Amino acid sequence: MERSDIVAEDLIAAAIAARERAYAPYSNYKVGAAVLTEDGQIVTGCNVENAVFPLTLCAERVAIAKAISEGAHAIAAVAVATQNGGAPCGSCRQVIREFSAPDSPIFIARLDGRYRKHTIGQLLPDSFSAEDLQRGSTK
Ligand code: THU
Repeated sequence: MERSDIVAEDLIAAAIAARERAYAPYSNYKVGAAVLTEDGQIVTGCNVENAVFPLTLCAERVAIAKAISEGAHAIAAVAVATQNGGAPCGSCRQVIREFSAPDSPIFIARLDGRYRKHTIGQLLPDSFSAEDLQRGSTK
């Protein structure tokens, strides 16, 4: 088994466990996420809904905010776990991109651990990022 497979399985297991803590009484769609920080830590998140629906927090962004607020600077990989293998929403893709290189893996998993692997560059091609805000950018 390659190192990337071990990372994937650990991250996915963490995302599946985090999903159990989802607060999703309105959609009943539970999501778990786990991010691998640049220094090898796994930080998890779940979706947190609200009676004021637009205030809902997605699992991926909860995990990323937790990681960054605890001192991480970059995200090396992300796993997201749902019952039906749903992909990260567009807003989460943009937030993942903020802290990840385009070739960072995104593992999209079901509860039995089966997953598909993409990169954030595949999920969000030709993305807007901090580089576009650099003076003189000609992209
Ligand atoms: N959700 C996430 O947590 N992540 C996504 O990338 C897509 C959607 C949550 C938000 C809401 O609680 C539920 O899934 C249904 O949209």
